[in-house]
Amino acid sequence: MPEHIITETRDRVQRIELHRPDKRNAITVAMYEAMAAALVRAGEDPGVRAILIHGQPEVFTSGNDIVEFLNLPPSGADSPVVRFLKEISQCSKPVVAAVTGAAVGIGTTLLLHCDYVVAGESAKLSVPFVNLGLCPEGASSLLLPLLVGYQRAAELLLFGEAIDAMQAREWGLVNRVVADELAISTGQARAQALAAKPPTALRAAKSLLKRRLAPLILHTIDEEVASFGELLGGPEAKEALSAFVAKRRPDFSRF
Ligand code: COA
Repeated sequence: MPEHIITETRDRVQRIELHRPDKRNAITVAMYEAMAAALVRAGEDPGVRAILIHGQPEVFTSGNDIVEFLNLPPSGADSPVVRFLKEISQCSKPVVAAVTGAAVGIGTTLLLHCDYVVAGESAKLSVPFVNLGLCPEGASSLLLPLLVGYQRAAELLLFGEAIDAMQAREWGLVNRVVADELAISTGQARAQALAAKPPTALRAAKSLLKRRLAPLILHTIDEEVASFGELLGGPEAKEALSAFVAKRRPDFSRF
């Protein structure tokens, strides 16, 4: 089986690359497991001082693998996706993301847990859960309104339409926009800059920044997972997901 998550430590930065370009880096259960394990390893390894998550210049990720949503739905609070979300939300070391091309669903919600986000000019962020008969995940129902304000969060989550890199920067979802071909190297450089800081002070600063919200984030992830699981087993998600697989438009008129 090809390796869909590539990890490597260079200059005290642990790189986590989503690498399944033929499926636009759609994330499978095995990939969530590998990413959660990589975050645990990075947290424990004193040789790692910062983490960089990225895809390729063409795409960050098309989100959860839709075929697996149908055939291998996440099974509650212990599922690999939830483990990954909890690991990234509680990671004690700084996490940088470099986003180019599509960042769909969890591709956008994972950014809410990062400490610095670089976007390439082609980046398109979207959270189309409702369009798929689903609901927000990754604590986005809590973090998005806090970050961008209620109206913009509702616009993103209810319409499910993508915003581009400049809009994402204006709304505070990304820190910096660069040319696509520079996004990953810029992300690496920002992660290296953090890796050169005094590590205990850096972790203390991050911990203080995150401390108030941390328990609420974990609670929200669990609440969202419960609704998500129910909706995933329901008729609206079935229609939306099978329409994607069959490459047709979904029809919600009978619900
Ligand atoms: N899950 C499973 N397969 C996916 C996928 C996903 N989330 N996203 C894309 N793919 C597959 C397509 O089925 C296609 O497979 P095929 O070549 O075997 O037919 C391949 O990846 C290329 O996808 P395509 O849609 O042709 O690429 P594109 O560059 O035109 O568009 C996206 C890219 C990301 C905009 C588009 O693929 C998309 O909208 N994907 C679904 C996103 C989504 O709803 N994710 C769930 C979020 S909760």
